[in-house]
Amino acid sequence: MTQKKKVLLSGIQPSGKLCIGNYIGALKNWVNLQDDYDSIFLIVDLHALTIKQVPSELRNRCMSFLAQYIACGINPEKNTIVIQSHVPEHAELTWVLNTLTYFGELNRMTQFKDKSKNNSSNINTGLFTYPVLMAADILIYQADLVPVGADQKQHLELSRNLAQRFNHNYSDTFPIPEPFIPKFGARIMSLQEPDKKMSKSDENENNFIALLDTPDIIMKKIKRAVTDSNTNIEYNQNRPGLANLLTLHSILTKGTIESSTMYFKGKMYSELKNELGEICVEYLRPIQDEYNKIIKDKGYLNKILKSGTEKARYKARRTLSKVYRKIGLVPFPR
Ligand code: TYM
Repeated sequence: MTQKKKVLLSGIQPSGKLCIGNYIGALKNWVNLQDDYDSIFLIVDLHALTIKQVPSELRNRCMSFLAQYIACGINPEKNTIVIQSHVPEHAELTWVLNTLTYFGELNRMTQFKDKSKNNSSNINTGLFTYPVLMAADILIYQADLVPVGADQKQHLELSRNLAQRFNHNYSDTFPIPEPFIPKFGARIMSLQEPDKKMSKSDENENNFIALLDTPDIIMKKIKRAVTDSNTNIEYNQNRPGLANLLTLHSILTKGTIESSTMYFKGKMYSELKNELGEICVEYLRPIQDEYNKIIKDKGYLNKILKSGTEKARYKARRTLSKVYRKIGLVPFPR
């Protein structure tokens, strides 16, 4: 008998241009792990609403993310790709989990603190309860493994706590989801401000490489990347700009930090930047070629969304019915 595969789940907010940080921290690992799990990949549009969006752009971005997931190597036939708002059970489970989440727990979330600092004119309650929606995303599919970058670790901890709390208060319902955080590349840094993480929604586009940036732009952004006033090339955490470029080089060449550092030893920053720029361009070229083919085929993309939603809703409904029954809600009379 074949053993039932474990469930892998992850998602990305369509809140900007998918960037190389998202790729290295998350997407690349989704691609590598997808075949070993029953995998579900979300485009979390409801999460994106916590920051002011232009409606038409948000809509287009969701479809573009779908095409980019596939272009990066997610197999939509074997796995499920779904837009979060197409499965209303996420929002329904969120409400139940809200009633199990303590104010103090959310108040400790460092991402909430950071985001409200950068977004002081719009500190909405969605931004505050955002990690509960994320927990619902994970628990509604009974996920076992969640591949994410390092910045999501605290949110995942909350998901684990909520799963445990629910299981303890009622009865065993949710597996406790394990994070999968890559050893290298879990926190790619901003190109202009290398002491903060690279972010797809950064107002300064020079801070990130988007997966769909043209070769010219990629070269320009890497050449302008902030390093320091030293000249020797070494891997040193106290030289975050240089360390970030070496990290990118080692990951994109499938080498190690040591091999990249050795390779550039005695060379100049400009050589590192030029080579890294070219490697990045070549790395992204097949992804961009594939993307350009898929994005035009609306029929194909819609078909994937329909079958993904069907599969996802079936699973989500099963979990939600179980949850509603366990907490004492009256089942709808048949
Ligand atoms: P988001 O959209 O900010 O980022 C998507 C994924 O990319 C990773 N990431 C990075 N990894 C390395 N270096 C970086 N500079 C970098 N920036 C981002 C993130 O860790 C993430 O894995 N709340 C989530 C989305 C989400 C989710 C979920 C994830 C919603 N529901 C359920 C997993 C499971 C977020 O805002 O990610």
